[in-house]
Amino acid sequence: MTSEQRPTGAKIIDGKALARTLRIECRARAQALAQAGCIPGLAVVLVGSDPGSRVYVTNKVRACAEVGVASRLLEFPADVPESDVLAAIRTLNNDPAIHGILVQLPLPPHIALRQVLETISIEKDVDGFHLYNVGGLVLGNAVFPPCTPYGVQKLLESEGIDVRGQNVVVVGASNIVGKPMALMLMQQEATVAICHARTRDLAQFTILADILVVAAGVPGLIVPQMVKAGAVVIDVGINRLPDGRLVGDVDFEGVRKKASHITPVPGGVGPMTVTMLVVNTLDSAERAWRGR
Ligand code: GUN
Repeated sequence: MTSEQRPTGAKIIDGKALARTLRIECRARAQALAQAGCIPGLAVVLVGSDPGSRVYVTNKVRACAEVGVASRLLEFPADVPESDVLAAIRTLNNDPAIHGILVQLPLPPHIALRQVLETISIEKDVDGFHLYNVGGLVLGNAVFPPCTPYGVQKLLESEGIDVRGQNVVVVGASNIVGKPMALMLMQQEATVAICHARTRDLAQFTILADILVVAAGVPGLIVPQMVKAGAVVIDVGINRLPDGRLVGDVDFEGVRKKASHITPVPGGVGPMTVTMLVVNTLDSAERAWRGR
């Protein structure tokens, strides 16, 4: 932390700006592929009409359009038979114009999540949720790192924050964020603890964190007393309050006075998640083009 930052508190990590920079690189990669004769393509599968999922899907489709990735949205009603979804995925697996397949989660309860995720071709699994890609992450050679933790990794890199040997506490143990985040940080030789809803006295862990990554989905969960002075605080939470405000899991105004770096909500991790999906899709398209 510089002396200039001390009086006002943490540096605010601008995820929107980094996402913009990365998307410019993505556009150049998409153009180069297109000139070679390959239009990169992403298929997005949406089941049901959950308003949150619809917003995320719209953002993903928009990000693709912005960089020159063709996207195809497949929408199914909430009561669609599982077999129809599996059949659609198999068709996409065999479609050479599609380089990435994403099934927006959550799925309705009558659809077996693992069955759906394991049907996606491992070469097109741009969310990185297939068992094979999860295994790659465990072994330290992920093909498609899951987009949200991948975005957090890029944010830390962009700030020159070296995680090696640092105490990192991840709050939240989901398959989408917490677990892959912990594995990626461990691969980079951080000392990682994962806390979750059943953790007793969360503060005794969070106070030790040099880097605190919070993905619990609980607005205001992390208050200043739980944060070490000078810590880097990454807020993955996106919560809509009854008054319509969008907030993270961290008491931003309180914690920013104590942290060295902090991500805002919105404008922190969110724009990076969508961008890393585009990056994974381009990686997939380039790999397919090279191996044709
Ligand atoms: N729902 C919430 N986050 C995600 C994500 O990263 N990918 C997908 N497919 N669904 C989600």
